[in-house]
Amino acid sequence: MNTNFWNNKKVFITGHTGFKGGWLSLWLQNLGANVTGFALNPPTNPSFFEVANVSQGMQSIIGDIRHFDQLKEALENSEPEFVFHLAAQSLVRESYRAPLDTYSTNVMGTVNILEAVRYISSVKSVVCVTSDKCYENNEWVWGYRESDPMGGFDPYSNSKGCAELAVAAYRNSFFSSGEGVGIATARAGNVIGGGDWSSDRLLPDLLRASHSQSEVNIRNPSAIRPWQHVLDPLSGYLQLAEAQYAKKEEYSEGWNFGPSYEGAKSVSWVIEAINEMMTDKKIIWKHDSDIQPHEANYLKLDISKARDKLNWSPTLDILSALRLTLDWSELHNAGNDMRAISLEQITNFEKLKINKL
Ligand SMILES: NC(=O)c1ccc[n+]([C@@H]2O[C@H](COP(=O)([O-])OP(=O)(O)OC[C@H]3O[C@@H](n4cnc5c(N)ncnc54)[C@H](O)[C@@H]3O)[C@@H](O)[C@H]2O)c1
Repeated sequence: MNTNFWNNKKVFITGHTGFKGGWLSLWLQNLGANVTGFALNPPTNPSFFEVANVSQGMQSIIGDIRHFDQLKEALENSEPEFVFHLAAQSLVRESYRAPLDTYSTNVMGTVNILEAVRYISSVKSVVCVTSDKCYENNEWVWGYRESDPMGGFDPYSNSKGCAELAVAAYRNSFFSSGEGVGIATARAGNVIGGGDWSSDRLLPDLLRASHSQSEVNIRNPSAIRPWQHVLDPLSGYLQLAEAQYAKKEEYSEGWNFGPSYEGAKSVSWVIEAINEMMTDKKIIWKHDSDIQPHEANYLKLDISKARDKLNWSPTLDILSALRLTLDWSELHNAGNDMRAISLEQITNFEKLKINKL
């Protein structure tokens, strides 16, 4: 990752009021980029967006990616070179409750971005963020590769598989010739970090339960997920956009950004690891034996391609990622300036990443 690269670059981020989009917006501001965000209001209260005062150093537009004209106008006015598309209905359980909203946002919202980009000549690189859940899940022990078929059992996972297919069709049909625009997709695993207050996600549920000292029901303690700190996949998205800007042909494809092999752990392992780190307010949990909507049991990503072709690798192991998340939460509970704390975590991450190279 070349931190100087982003100085004065014009960047358009969808989903900047969300957890990952908020961190990405803050990081790019810190790197000197000129950032415009486009999203609905923050999906949670509190939110990383409000608590870390993300809007302070950027232009923040509240809008709906399902409204093509609104989105196109925002893109036209900001004349970006880079687009990071993160806006989504991002939760599996919510997708069972609201499948129509999930498909219209995740699939047609993505199509709207791609369609709008066709008319904005300033754009050189688009990174569409989908998910590790976009793959046809065979419940096998191996990590999924970028060449594996798309699928998805539930509406969320399937909407991300559909978004991948829509990106591929647009790339082939409209962005394949000449100088043009690089269009890549990024598939990351379960992301943790400070400032995520979403419902039905493990870390936010655990931290809420620890804070209130109430028992938390765990749906699937043996489910294996590729856990990673939010800054790790974001560093991958930044590296991918940089590479794509320089060589569109080589990088306009799908990319996995997951943890190292050891980062894929069960839910119960994560809970016990957090309890080891906590001095008080340990998590009290029980297995929720009620019948639950289907969710994958085994999900791992093969990150060989990003390692070899982008020279990207994860910086934080799972214990460091959990530690950083708990630190952020404790500092927030103690009333600190969370914009400053988040920027400090970003700067420390950059140093670690550079030292690793
Ligand atoms: N958090 C994870 O563990 C994880 C894992 C894999 C992939 N992802 C993907 O990464 C992206 C960001 O995830 P997140 O955790 O930050 O999600 P989030 O729910 O915290 O944020 C979603 C963002 O999308 C915006 N949004 C939702 N519907 C919109 C609409 N119709 N128009 C405009 N904006 C809309 C929200 O306002 C918010 O800014 C998503 O695409 C998600 O599917 C997340």
